[in-house]
Amino acid sequence: MSQGNGGGPEAVQALKRRIRELAEARDAVIISHYYCVPDVHDVADFVGDSLGLSQEARRSPRKVVVFCGVHFMAETASILCPDKTVLLANLDAGCPMADMITPEALSKRREELPGVPVLTYVNSSAAVKAHSDICCTSANVTAVMRSLEGDRVLMTPDRNLAMRTQTLVPDKEILLWPGFCPTHHRVNLAEVKKLKEEHPEALVLAHPECQPKILAEAHVVGSTSGIIKACLESDRREFVILTEQGVIYPLRKQRPDKVFLEPATPMVCPNMKKNTLEDVLKALETLTPVIKVPEEIRIPALRAVERMMAVPRD
Ligand code: 13P
Ligand code: SF4
Repeated sequence: MSQGNGGGPEAVQALKRRIRELAEARDAVIISHYYCVPDVHDVADFVGDSLGLSQEARRSPRKVVVFCGVHFMAETASILCPDKTVLLANLDAGCPMADMITPEALSKRREELPGVPVLTYVNSSAAVKAHSDICCTSANVTAVMRSLEGDRVLMTPDRNLAMRTQTLVPDKEILLWPGFCPTHHRVNLAEVKKLKEEHPEALVLAHPECQPKILAEAHVVGSTSGIIKACLESDRREFVILTEQGVIYPLRKQRPDKVFLEPATPMVCPNMKKNTLEDVLKALETLTPVIKVPEEIRIPALRAVERMMAVPRD
């Protein structure tokens, strides 16, 4: 896929080769979230989900990490690997859901709920993580929720993930924060029902950031890596994918014999798509923009992330 770089396929191939040469020269690892454009997947050393990528950044022996994703993901890499230079390919790539909560608003809510632990989805800023007791991802949220003491938990910022978790952990009272992911929240129920009617044999997979009425139509609810794994392990031929369309590229590459379907209104995260090959090249050339979480935020944020990592998976 071209990225508006004005060149044909040969120019794109040359750009990709230049990026790989420069990554070696800079001692850099390039990591891309599944939601980035296919060309960016192609130049990345690793393509994965948000937490997996930060863990990969930590494991890598390279000095420089070029993160192709959104701002909070590069911050998580900075939290986990303070000794590395973490670059975000495109500084404008933010996450509207992460922006639906601030540390000030969270502190105010905490004052209203003394003694109630705060569980924060990794899709949040470092400053919000620093004001939270523990983090979770969409892959480990139920285990993390069950690990908490007490009957009530405030879950931020995604209310759809919180409502889903409430159905799986009914013995806790989960207090919601009014945040949501615009890309997942606006999936249209009529479009999903039509796809199911047209493809009755298809396996329907949805990300828990979708609304409950959409999740009720799904056979599998999972994180991005969970959705990919479930497709690869299934013997079905057709799949309806209800998460950002970027996951379809690796699926089609691995299983060209299968059919991966999307809603009529494609699910696109415009921020993830901001990361282009040109941005990756520029980041490598200039070693900017650097994402560096200050120590007074990093240390408490790391505590919340490491507390999550210590919870055994269920
Ligand atoms: P994952 O944690 O599953 O990669 O999801 C990240 C995300 O931004 C979902 O919208
Ligand atoms: Fe944020 Fe949604 Fe984009 Fe994920 S898909 S980065 S939650 S806006």
